[in-house]
Formats: sequence, structure tokens, C-alpha cells
Amino acid sequence: MAKPQASAELLDLLNRAIARELQVSIQYIWQHVMWSGVEGIAVKDELKSIAVTEMKHAEAIAERLAYLGGTPTTKPEPIFVGATLKEMIEHDAADEEGAIELYRRILAKATDDGDVVTQQLFRGILTDEEGHHDTFTSLLEGM
Ligand SMILES: [Fe+2]
Ligand SMILES: [Fe+2]
Repeated sequence: MAKPQASAELLDLLNRAIARELQVSIQYIWQHVMWSGVEGIAVKDELKSIAVTEMKHAEAIAERLAYLGGTPTTKPEPIFVGATLKEMIEHDAADEEGAIELYRRILAKATDDGDVVTQQLFRGILTDEEGHHDTFTSLLEGM
């Protein structure tokens, strides 16, 4: 049997990851669209580029979940746009922390299940999320 036997818990965690990725991809692109302040010009471009990365994460995780026999959710977690740039970026930094926590759990569960490909996928995604967290917390230092 070629396909790894994914546990129900891992499939559930992957769907929670997809819901988060859908949330932040919409959240960051809408923050990009809604933000018009002068001091936010550099942040605006950053938000767009991170939003695209998050959508690629959603796709890659959905491909993996479908391969493992699950059905990828289409429902994002609640989206937060925010009224001020500081409010937006504070929320985004917290969302990245939540993602990092969840993806460490997924890595541990994939390791338990002996699912090397899911481990590999989430090592890459976790690297991106730590980079996003670093970007948002660095931006906050300047606010
Ligand atoms: Fe992501
Ligand atoms: Fe991220």
C-alpha cells in the first residue's frame, strides 16, 4: 500500500491549517487594499506578497489532505481587517504565532504517523510562518 495511513487527528489538523491559511490570505490582501496611509506604503506591498504565500500554503496543504483521503474545507477562520495599521499588524503577528503553534503540532503528529512527506511540507511552511512573524514583529517595533 503506497499511501501513508493518515490518522483522523492528522486529517483534522490539516483542515484546521487550511482554514487558517484561507483566513490570512484574505485578511492580508484586504488589509493591503484597505490601507491607504502614507506610512504604510512599504507595509502595503509586504501584505500583498505574504497574502500570496498564504494562498500557496492553502493549496499545498489541500493537495496533501486530498491525497491522504480527506476533504479540504472551504471555510476560513474569522477574518480581521482592522482600523489602524498598528491594529492590523498586531493582529497579524498574533495570527502567525497561532499558525506556528499549530504547525509544530502537525509536525509532531506527522512524525508519530510516520508521514515523512507531510513533515517535509510543514518544515517548509513553518519556515515561511516564522519569517512572517519576524516581519510583523519588526514592523511593530517601528510603530
Ligand atoms: Fe501560511
Ligand atoms: Fe504566515
